[in-house]
Amino acid sequence: MIVFTEKLKIQSHISSQKLNKVTFGFVPTMGALHEGHLSLVSKALTENDICVVSIFVNPTQFDNAEDLKKYPRTLDKDIELLKTVSHNIIVYAPAVEDIYEGNTKAEHFSFDGLEHEMEGKFRDGHFDGVGTIVKRLFEIVKPNNAYFGEKDFQQLAIIKKLVEKYNIPVNVKGCAIYREPSGLAYSSRNERLKPNYKIAAPFIFKTLTTAKEQFGTKSAKQVTEWVTKQFAKNNLLELEYFIIADEVTLKPVKRKSKSKNYRAFVAVYADDIRLIDNIALN
Ligand code: PAF
Repeated sequence: MIVFTEKLKIQSHISSQKLNKVTFGFVPTMGALHEGHLSLVSKALTENDICVVSIFVNPTQFDNAEDLKKYPRTLDKDIELLKTVSHNIIVYAPAVEDIYEGNTKAEHFSFDGLEHEMEGKFRDGHFDGVGTIVKRLFEIVKPNNAYFGEKDFQQLAIIKKLVEKYNIPVNVKGCAIYREPSGLAYSSRNERLKPNYKIAAPFIFKTLTTAKEQFGTKSAKQVTEWVTKQFAKNNLLELEYFIIADEVTLKPVKRKSKSKNYRAFVAVYADDIRLIDNIALN
């Protein structure tokens, strides 16, 4: 396994390998790797010769300085974990300077309105930060395929839009949410949950699963009211939003249509840890 910290070095390595027709899958991460990340890496390795994993806590996508400060940074552990998967992995773990070159600012993007829904409403500038870093990483790594988890479904939709708008030659592949045995979606933030919140958190997926059942016979409004009541009765989890939205536009559903696919999205605070999850409804 090779670890690069400088973009010029990884770029030159990848371009020389490409002359030999080596294919590259790419899994961008912010580190603190878990089973969910490893499932993306494994998928990338079944479809490409090499998997590049970037490990970079991107400052421009945090709207909360405290969250950025507390975000776990576990590079040595991450590298050891990746070695257990395969040696056909390249790690790119740059410093902020290597990416932002003295100007740690996000570009401003329009993602045709996708950026204004859900996470975009609650995390100011978040998707400008994500767009900025993913575009730069794509320019540096130039992968054939890139893999993103559906836990961040809105992020995935926005990255597909970014690639379309800027004609970036990469296939963006969404991968099913990887869950702990309890049903809790894997997230780097789970590590920071205090024991009682860790026990409480699987309630999120349990509620989403029942919401999905209810959506077969009830309206989006009725399901939303039911979910809101369930969280109001839960002393440990505080609901930030629950939204049933069109999977393509991400706009909240007003009236159900048989020709559309819907998804329920949730953001919850477990103490000061913000967790998100979602479920396909049809
Ligand atoms: O999903 C993440 O971990 C991040 O948003 C990403 C895509 C690595 C960009 O920093």
